[in-house]
Order: sequence, then C-alpha cells, then structure tokens
Amino acid sequence: MTHDQAESLRRKIESNKNTKHAKTISFVSGKGGVGKTNIAVNFSLELCKQGQRVLLVDLDIGMGNVDILLGLQAKKTIIDMLEAKLPIYDIMEVGPNNLKYIAGGSGLSTIFSVDQQKMNYFLMQYEEVVQQFDYIIFDMGAGATHASIDFVLASDECIVVTTPEPTSITDAYSMIKFIVGFKNTIPIYVVLNRSNNVKKGLNTVNRFQKLITQFLGVDIKCLGVLPEDKAVTSAVIKQAPFVMENNKSNIAKAIKQLSENYQERQVKTNVKESSTFVERLKGLLSNRGR
Ligand SMILES: Nc1ncnc2c1ncn2[C@@H]1O[C@H](COP(=O)(O)OP(=O)(O)O)[C@@H](O)[C@H]1O
Ligand SMILES: [Mg+2]
Repeated sequence: MTHDQAESLRRKIESNKNTKHAKTISFVSGKGGVGKTNIAVNFSLELCKQGQRVLLVDLDIGMGNVDILLGLQAKKTIIDMLEAKLPIYDIMEVGPNNLKYIAGGSGLSTIFSVDQQKMNYFLMQYEEVVQQFDYIIFDMGAGATHASIDFVLASDECIVVTTPEPTSITDAYSMIKFIVGFKNTIPIYVVLNRSNNVKKGLNTVNRFQKLITQFLGVDIKCLGVLPEDKAVTSAVIKQAPFVMENNKSNIAKAIKQLSENYQERQVKTNVKESSTFVERLKGLLSNRGR
C-alpha cells in the first residue's frame, strides 16, 4: 500500500469520526440452509419499512443468493469494484422498500487476505457510505473461515440463526465458541427459525442461552422465534421476499414483530461505540500482519 493511500484512508476515518455511523450487523450460522439469507433479506426489508436506511451485503461467497430472493440480479460485485476501482455506488442495486444491496462475488476473502491495497480501497469505499445508512447488514456464509471471521468480529452486533434440530444447535454453539474465542464482548443475538411451536421454541432458546453462559461465559440475547411456514418456500419459488409476497403469513408477521422488537431495543440501548467497523477491521487485519 502506498503511503498516500494509507494517509487518505486515515484522513477519511478522522473526518467521519464524530458523525453518525451505520450500525453493522453480521448474520451468521453454524450450519447452512437454516434460513439465514431469508431472514436477513426480510428483516432488512422490515427495517426499511420502519423508515431505516439499510444496505444489505451478500458475503456468502460462492453460495450468495440474496439477489435471487430479492428478484434482482447484481450486475457488479465487490470484486468488480476492487478490480476496476469503481465507486461503491456503481455496484449498488435498489430492491423493494428502497433496500440497497451489494454482492461480494467469489474469491473475495482471498483478495482481502493477500492484497492490502484492495482491502484499503474497500475500507475507503465503506467509509463513503457509513453515513448514508442506519444499518449495514452482512449475510455471511455458513460456518466461519479465518478470512470471514474478521468481518464478524468488527461488526457492532452478530445475529446467529439456528433451527431447533440438535445438529443445527450444536453447530451454532461451535460458531459462537469460535467468535467468543476471538472476542467475548461482541453482542450476540440468537434467532430460532423453523420452530413448530413458539413456546417450545422459546424453551429451546432458553436452554441454549444457559449452556452458552455456563460453558462460554457470555450472555447471548434471544431475538426471536420464527415459525416453520410454507410461505417461505412459495416466496422463494416466486423469487419474491415473503414480507412482500404474503404479508399475512405467520412468518411475515413473526419477522415484522422481531424487527420491531429489535428496533425498540436499539432505541433503548443506544450506546455510542468508541470505535467504528472500519477502525476495528483495520486493527484486526494489521494484528494478523496484513
Ligand atoms: N421458516 C421457514 N419455514 C419453512 N421453510 C424455511 C424457513 N426458513 C427457511 N426455509 C427453507 O430453507 C431454505 C434455505 O433457506 P436460506 O435462507 O437460503 O438458508 P441459509 O441462508 O441459511 O443457507 C429455504 O429456501 C426454504 O425452503
Ligand atoms: Mg444463505
């Protein structure tokens, strides 16, 4: 990286320092196929409906499908932005409810881990948009790699999605253990998806929370229990988000409630972070010698 580039990134971070920044949220899961993308998409759309400005970033490299669920097709990805030094606005798509969306593209994690110049360009572009949004939401791939974990660790909050299946719960546990092993102060929320019974679902979450506290020494919060609902699959087939396609369905009502609860919690506990996503990500990468 040239001295000039590093200097302009530093200046950008400094000039953004005292302004309102988007809150960064990472959606993660242990196992794939638990409903993470569906929840991230519909949760983002609900936040938009509540008047929030949201940017959804598809970082599920290789399995990214946010665009399919939104009925859109990303023409350009973060990879294109880095290769051609495009402004971030050039790769942004607009979805329903004015939700903004960008796709990662495949090979992104390798680029970030080997090319500091590109990483800095990404951070610079990220700093461009942090003031334009209230939330920047990452849909991460299942499991965690050493390259993607930094995005999770640098986020303001992390939402772990699981189903009630023991295998999914076990994998969610391992994922939380992995995150907490690096950083035990990041707020972690859990969403239980595909539950056949809300009361039973809440009990499952409760037991899971106790297990985490007992063995990992951290408290995680329950963000909500979402029902098993055929409306999810029919919406996926129609390539339309279920909150738009069938807003009377149980799943749409439940995610609406979940997003409202989340927003209420945000208003109540609005603490100003001492550092920003970009500062934290920069710090993590330089600690790893990148
Ligand atoms: N609440 C639900 N009820 C019924 N089916 C669901 C539900 N959530 C997810 N699914 C099914 O699981 C599939 C995978 O969901 P997806 O969001 O792509 O998972 P992930 O991003 O975790 O891999 C969906 O296409 C849908 O068929
Ligand atoms: Mg997914």
